[in-house]
Amino acid sequence: SQVPFAINEPVRTYEPGSDEVKSLIATYKKMWKDKSEIPMIINGKEVTSENKVKISSPQDHQHDLGFYYKGTMENVDEAINTALAAKEKWNNLGWEQRAAIFLKAADLIAGPYRDRLNAATMIGQSKNVHQAEIDAACEFIDFLRFNVEFMTEMYSEQPVSDTGIWNRSEYRPLEGFCFAVTPFNFTAIAGNLPTCMAMMGNVVVWKPSDKQILSAKVLMDVFMEAGLPAGVINMIFTDGKSTAEKIMSHPDFAGLHFTGSTKVFQGMWKMIGNNIDLFKTYPRIVGETGGKDFVVAHSSANVEAVATGLVRGAFEYQGQKCSAASRAYIPRSIWNDVKAVMESQLKTVKMGSPEDPSNFVNAVIDKNSFEKCKGYIERAAKSADAEVIIGGKCDDSKGWFVEPTVILTTNPKYESVCEEIFGPILSIYIYEDKDWAETLKLVDETSPYSLTGAVFAQDRYAIAEAYKALENASGNFYINDKPTGAVVGQQPFGGARASGTNDKAGSKMNLMRWVSVRSIKETF
Ligand code: ALA
Repeated sequence: SQVPFAINEPVRTYEPGSDEVKSLIATYKKMWKDKSEIPMIINGKEVTSENKVKISSPQDHQHDLGFYYKGTMENVDEAINTALAAKEKWNNLGWEQRAAIFLKAADLIAGPYRDRLNAATMIGQSKNVHQAEIDAACEFIDFLRFNVEFMTEMYSEQPVSDTGIWNRSEYRPLEGFCFAVTPFNFTAIAGNLPTCMAMMGNVVVWKPSDKQILSAKVLMDVFMEAGLPAGVINMIFTDGKSTAEKIMSHPDFAGLHFTGSTKVFQGMWKMIGNNIDLFKTYPRIVGETGGKDFVVAHSSANVEAVATGLVRGAFEYQGQKCSAASRAYIPRSIWNDVKAVMESQLKTVKMGSPEDPSNFVNAVIDKNSFEKCKGYIERAAKSADAEVIIGGKCDDSKGWFVEPTVILTTNPKYESVCEEIFGPILSIYIYEDKDWAETLKLVDETSPYSLTGAVFAQDRYAIAEAYKALENASGNFYINDKPTGAVVGQQPFGGARASGTNDKAGSKMNLMRWVSVRSIKETF
């Protein structure tokens, strides 16, 4: 590759008592006391409105963090028009100049903005120190640096020519403007979706989740300090449905980059389909949606590895990763041992505010999520098909806290095995060792999703059997590891079926979606 700097950002370990952890917690405490007033950013300017919406933290729903300004459909129009007006100049700037802005943004996050971005993610999205570090800092830095490297490779890829002929590929941005819709659960995704479109010469209207406002503001501050020209990425806080309706009926709408729920994405896809004759060009549609990610262990599996994979895969960030392990299939012969190790590991796990870095589990994102988790736990406790064998306590007296919970079920089609919960609830089904082949079939057929999954086995035949039988059951497949934590540049991320269009975040495959190639043949 031409640009040798894309190596994964080293993850800070935040050892107890270290300067790193002291500095981050001091930033957290300061931000916790500040009362923010967060504007939209349109055409590089702060835009306010009459409608002030309170920002609260999942770990303390009474605490006042200030407010953000909620916009109207006029702001959406303004964002679209501004983006379109910025387009020509932005694209004419050339890719090296654009790349420099995003590389500088990566350096700003690696250095002076790291604590602010991590602290905003800890407060607003309830991540512990380590989860914030791997997401907001490292994964986003990696997205920026690796995407720039992929971009340089792409732009230099040219077709062969012949005597008397010069063939060229021109990587044009999409004709029109792009729309990025991002989720609460990864600051890195919120940053990546608009930036990888912009990097390729596009102009973007970006609507972050209203549960990610604090860190979205820090991202926008970084982009502007890195020199992103006004109008290239416009951040709006508006009603999701009416914004989508407005944008997806605009003739210049050219691309959707979405991460969020399957239902919302399908609604948008239908909207685009219904309006197809309005658009100047077929819009590109890229979406990463739900998951019901599996762990299947074989009787040859290493018990420690399975238990650790389940505890980390299911409960890090309270199970609110689209990649989280949420259904597990364990053979009877090793179940008691796996359970014992899980119990002993979970006994040491503390739950509480991220302000105390030793709290592994923090709150779930909001009341809806809390109630949803509580419902699954209460129904399992009463069900003849299921029992809650670990955890199960829910406490909303201060924040939205749900204990890491394991539901054991005798019914492989029990609701918590099949439905996406997006919380710290793992469902386990015990199968008879002899039923390995049938179990693999069950894993494949139980869920409509196909995002991540893991097999644990030492027997190479068993690994190969799972590899083949689960070929279409996930977009990211792990052998002897938890199904979360894909690293940019190492495991391109994304899934198919009801999980998305599988355009692999953090790869050239994704960036290719944001250009429209012109083939040029010149004859001498
Ligand atoms: N990329 C995130 C992970 O792999 C979602 O966990």
